[in-house]
Amino acid sequence: MVTGGSRGIGLEIARTLVARGDRVCVTGRDAERLAAAVAELGPHAMGVAGKAHDPEHQAEVVERVLAAWGRLDHLVNNAGSNPAFGPLTDVEPALLAKVFEINVLSAFGFARRAWSAWQHQHGGTVVNIASVAGLGASPFLGAYGVSKAALVNLTEQLAHELAPLVRVNAVAPAVVKTRFASALYEGNEERLAAGYPLGRLGVPSDVAGVVAFLSSPAAAWLTGQTLVVDGGVGLTAGTG
Ligand SMILES: NC(=O)c1ccc[n+]([C@@H]2O[C@H](COP(=O)([O-])OP(=O)(O)OC[C@H]3O[C@@H](n4cnc5c(N)ncnc54)[C@H](OP(=O)(O)O)[C@@H]3O)[C@@H](O)[C@H]2O)c1
Repeated sequence: MVTGGSRGIGLEIARTLVARGDRVCVTGRDAERLAAAVAELGPHAMGVAGKAHDPEHQAEVVERVLAAWGRLDHLVNNAGSNPAFGPLTDVEPALLAKVFEINVLSAFGFARRAWSAWQHQHGGTVVNIASVAGLGASPFLGAYGVSKAALVNLTEQLAHELAPLVRVNAVAPAVVKTRFASALYEGNEERLAAGYPLGRLGVPSDVAGVVAFLSSPAAAWLTGQTLVVDGGVGLTAGTG
């Protein structure tokens, strides 16, 4: 299961998992965009449209995956958004609550349901898509960063509670070229990329490969970790 799998990083994760032989259920709010993604992913994919933070949608997705395939091994909590650009002190508490609902409660709700419906007996993995914004202060992304920091701790908490049957990890990307991040790099890409030791911004496959690793037996002794996938941009100490 990949939430928010109709475009961007989530769709690339779904492509990568289908390519390794998994059957993949993707979700997203826009039913048409989701149907196009499912058509592209092919016969081993299905889609369930809805809002990731809606408990009824969460229940429906888990139910439909189990009805179709009889198992739910890997959950990727990728759906996320940032409706609150700007300094954190300018954000109304109700909007911060909304950001938490989308970026944190969605992941919690899906993980809880996957656990109770399947993984508590059969095991599996959960991978949460966090962000480098959750690992330090980020100008303009304060509310988003606070929510992604909560997702990092949720990862650790669930990893502890669901072990040894289920491994729970996170990925924290820096700027990855998708529609979501376009405001950060459009018209500015060369200058921004110059600050990345690996010389470029990320692309969705940079994240998808790490998610595939975390949900594979190659990561069998790895849980509760947040892997930073950032082209090396976090390596500098701010000394210029
Ligand atoms: N791009 C980056 O630089 C970057 C960096 C760090 C972390 N991330 C994280 O990576 C994840 C994916 O981001 P992206 O860049 O791939 O974004 P994107 O290109 O905007 O794709 C977001 C996907 O999630 C779906 N979605 C959004 N809100 C949803 C909701 N409330 N319920 C269900 N589906 C929802 C979208 O479809 P619909 O619009 O149809 O719902 C779409 O499929 C997010 O969690 C983001 O915070 C991104």
